[in-house]
Amino acid sequence: MIEQMLLVGGSRGIGLAVAEHYHTKVKNLICVSRTRSPFGHWIEADVAVNADLDRIGAASENQSLDALLYLGGIWEKNAFTADYDFANSSDEEIDRVIAVNLTAPIRLVKRLIASLQRSPNPKVIFIGSLSGLDHQASREVANSASKFGLRGAAQALAIELKRTAIGFTVINPGNIATPEVLNDIASDTFSPQVPIPLSDLIAVIDCSLSLSPDSYLPEVNLAQTKAG
Ligand SMILES: NC(=O)c1ccc[n+]([C@@H]2O[C@H](COP(=O)([O-])OP(=O)(O)OC[C@H]3O[C@@H](n4cnc5c(N)ncnc54)[C@H](OP(=O)(O)O)[C@@H]3O)[C@@H](O)[C@H]2O)c1
Repeated sequence: MIEQMLLVGGSRGIGLAVAEHYHTKVKNLICVSRTRSPFGHWIEADVAVNADLDRIGAASENQSLDALLYLGGIWEKNAFTADYDFANSSDEEIDRVIAVNLTAPIRLVKRLIASLQRSPNPKVIFIGSLSGLDHQASREVANSASKFGLRGAAQALAIELKRTAIGFTVINPGNIATPEVLNDIASDTFSPQVPIPLSDLIAVIDCSLSLSPDSYLPEVNLAQTKAG
C-alpha cells in the first residue's frame, strides 16, 4: 500500500498522466513542477535550484516516503527534428538539460534517503529513454548523455544504498503518446509512427511499485512496435 508518493513533473506530459492515475490511489500525492499540477499537493519548485530541492526534501522530513517518481525532464531546442544542431546548442542549454535530467534526481535522492528508509517498501523510479541505451543514442548530445548517466546513477545508488533496500528503477521508453508527441506526429514533425499509450507506461510503473520489498526492476525498456 502506497501512502506517500512524490512525483516530479506532475504539471504536463507523462508526469501529469501518472499523477492523474495515482491521485485517488495513494493517500498523499505530492507533485513537483514550476507550473501548477492539478493533482495532489503541489510544490512549486525548479529542480535545477538546490534551495528548491531542499524545500522538496523538507516536505517529506520525518515522514515515510514510499515512492519517488522522477518523471520530469527537458531536452534541447529543436530536439528530435532535423533542425537540432549540436554546434549551435549553447553551453547554458547543455548545462540545463544535464542539471534537470541527471544532476537533480541524484541530488534529490540524497535529500530523501531518510524518508525513503522509513517506508517498509521504498521504490524510486527515474524516467530514462531508449536513447540512453548503448548504441541507441539520438543526436541530442546533452539529452542522450543525461539518459545514459541516469542509468549509471541508478546502478550506483542501488549499490551504495544497498543497506536501505530502496529499489531503483529506470524506465527507458520510446515515444509516448503525450499531447506534445501526438501533435508532433500529426504535424509531420515526427515521422509516421504509433506512440506507446500512456496506459502502457503506467502499467510498467504499477508493476514496479507492486513488487514486494524483496525485489525491484533495475531497468525496463519500453519500445514501440510501430516506431517511426
Ligand atoms: N514524451 C515522450 O515520448 C518521452 C519518451 C522518452 C522519455 N521521455 C522523458 O520523460 C520526461 C518527461 O517528458 P514529457 O514528454 O512528459 O515532457 P513534458 O510534457 O515537457 O513535461 C515535463 C515535465 O517536467 C517538468 N519540469 C521540467 N523542467 C523542470 C524543472 N526545472 N523543475 C521542475 N519541473 C520541471 C515540467 O514542469 P514545469 O515546466 O511546470 O516545471 C513538466 O511537468 C523527459 O525526461 C523525457 O526525456 C519522454
